[in-house]
Amino acid sequence: MLTVEGLEKSFGSGSNKLHVLKGVDMNIKQGEMVALMGPSGSGKSTLLNIIGGLLAGDGGSITLAKRTYGLKGPSNVVDVRRELIGWIFQDFHLLDNLTALDNVAMALELTGIPSTEAEEAARTALTKVGLADRMNFVPDQLSGGQQQRVAIARAIAGNRPVLLADEPTGNLDIASGKEVMALFKELCHDEENPISILMVTHDPDLASKADRMLLLNDGKTEASDIRSAWGLDEDSESDEGEEE
Ligand SMILES: Nc1ncnc2c1ncn2[C@@H]1O[C@H](COP(=O)(O)OP(=O)(O)OP(=O)(O)O)[C@@H](O)[C@H]1O
Ligand SMILES: [Mg+2]
Repeated sequence: MLTVEGLEKSFGSGSNKLHVLKGVDMNIKQGEMVALMGPSGSGKSTLLNIIGGLLAGDGGSITLAKRTYGLKGPSNVVDVRRELIGWIFQDFHLLDNLTALDNVAMALELTGIPSTEAEEAARTALTKVGLADRMNFVPDQLSGGQQQRVAIARAIAGNRPVLLADEPTGNLDIASGKEVMALFKELCHDEENPISILMVTHDPDLASKADRMLLLNDGKTEASDIRSAWGLDEDSESDEGEEE
């Protein structure tokens, strides 16, 4: 579904040059929920921005559905942003004066979908995220977790196969964060229309809910489990020993 190969990105030049991504390789299958972790400044948002077609890489490639990109500037990957990738942000990015329904419908209308069709798709998406009874509320009348679910409805409404989420639970309390994770999992494991989610989180507990974890470290991604990500190796736990 989504393949990243040898992706490189630097910022600045000369002695100020910062080599952030040094050949990132990764692959996400349809229906997979992958958590991306790594220290602050390791390049997680940079990686998501390049995959999402908001930033051009310096080397390597990205293949998504039948599209190959990665080095093209944002103006050359409009179709990727419109059709293939949905975004979820830490601070929701909802319009304050629009109802949940209009927030979702408007995003669809911006991609050229006629209003009645957009509204229909928005209702379906809001129902899917459990907000059927909140469609006519404006963001201020919704809890943080509900607002994030509106943003998720907006991201899935266009039937995009991949969702990128940069610290989606960063502004939520623990219970709402867990609900968002559960919803992500439902969306990925949906039998009719499974999507793929790549999600940045600093919370090891939430990361462990994903199907798989990746650690971005020194400019490259490596497979990770929660213990190695947190510097706990085998002999640091008490019930070690027996091999299975
Ligand atoms: N537009 C830019 N110009 C110059 N440097 C940048 C730019 N964007 C990011 N960087 C630098 O690249 C590095 C990676 O940044 P990035 O935002 O991808 O990190 P991150 O892993 O998302 O960190 P955090 O966990 O704090 O969100 C940082 O050192 C950052 O300062
Ligand atoms: Mg970041």
